[in-house]
Amino acid sequence: MYSSLVRPIFFSMDPERAHDLMRFGAQFANNKPAISALRAVCRVEDPRLNVSVAGLSFENPIGLAAGLDKNVELLGLCAGMGFGHLELGTVTAQPQPGNPKPRIFRFAEDRALINRMGFPSEGADEIELRLTHARRTLAPLPPLGINIGKSKMVELDQAIDDYRYSFEKLAPHAEYVTVNVSSPNTQGLRQLQERGRLHELLSTLSGVNILKKPIFVKVAPDLEFSALDEVVEVCGETGIAGIIATNTTLTRKGLSVATSEAGGLSGAPLRERSLEVVRYLGRALGGRMALIGVGGISTAQDALSMIGAGASMVQIYTAMIYEGPRIVKALNTGLLSFMDKGGYRTLREAGEACIERRKVA
Ligand code: FNR
Repeated sequence: MYSSLVRPIFFSMDPERAHDLMRFGAQFANNKPAISALRAVCRVEDPRLNVSVAGLSFENPIGLAAGLDKNVELLGLCAGMGFGHLELGTVTAQPQPGNPKPRIFRFAEDRALINRMGFPSEGADEIELRLTHARRTLAPLPPLGINIGKSKMVELDQAIDDYRYSFEKLAPHAEYVTVNVSSPNTQGLRQLQERGRLHELLSTLSGVNILKKPIFVKVAPDLEFSALDEVVEVCGETGIAGIIATNTTLTRKGLSVATSEAGGLSGAPLRERSLEVVRYLGRALGGRMALIGVGGISTAQDALSMIGAGASMVQIYTAMIYEGPRIVKALNTGLLSFMDKGGYRTLREAGEACIERRKVA
């Protein structure tokens, strides 16, 4: 139904209008009966899909990446789709409108998007209220991550207090927190990935993390390996739970048409680079920290390749836009059928086999 009916309607509109329409429809799923009805159709239950990451338990390894539900408006709909976890945000401490529209662009032939949203956010205070309400009215929900970023008006040198404000407000309402220092659409943000600044930021957040919530840092795919080494070192020094790799890329590699639209590229063209970064980080971390893979995943094999490269679980965004909500179930059933066919007992075993096959191909 999505590809024959819903997608043509959505794709006849500007991407952000389509998102507004989805937001309107999602209101009707923000209640327990709707979530149960959706879950009855979309959920895949099998203990072989269960994963444990940073001390948390997840029903399956397919999560929603940050950016789709920035303001905790689609929670019922997303919870019903059968995701193993949902990452909400990016939330900024101050409410802000983000960049002027248009700011999302489809490249359907390449199964890609370019976005320069610039963190439109209702702000940490409002999101705290929404989360409190959601926890009361929609439970049980899958594990929730809250992704936090820097408010636009705040100078880079004041960024730590800004992140700290969001962290202290929102960490109590989430199972984990992601520190986003890799969005290409907020000026200077990516400089927070540099050794000194990152150390200061993460050690401050670790220091105020009284509830001991796992903290993840989300990195850009455009970092050199030497810069990734520094991130790994800083994460080790500051007691961070893990790394999410990757955010969108500033490169245009893999896009079949030339474009002058600024912003971060996501979807299929990002897949190889994200996988390469995950593989590099997987080796560098050697299991000492958790790793979540994201970037261009649209099939069970893509997800398994990430797992074989060292990720404990994965996230998706762009493939949801092209394939619709059915993709979550398709990915989970795809993982099981790959395991059944190959006789693999664990996701890790299946993932390693997937990586080997890619090498041969
Ligand atoms: C994103 N992404 C993103 N990431 C993040 O940490 N905070 C955010 O607010 C957003 N916003 C956002 C908006 C849009 C329109 C897109 C397409 C993406 C990045 C996203 O979480 C993910 O890291 C990348 O998109 C790569 O995964 P996919 O989309 O290739 O599966």
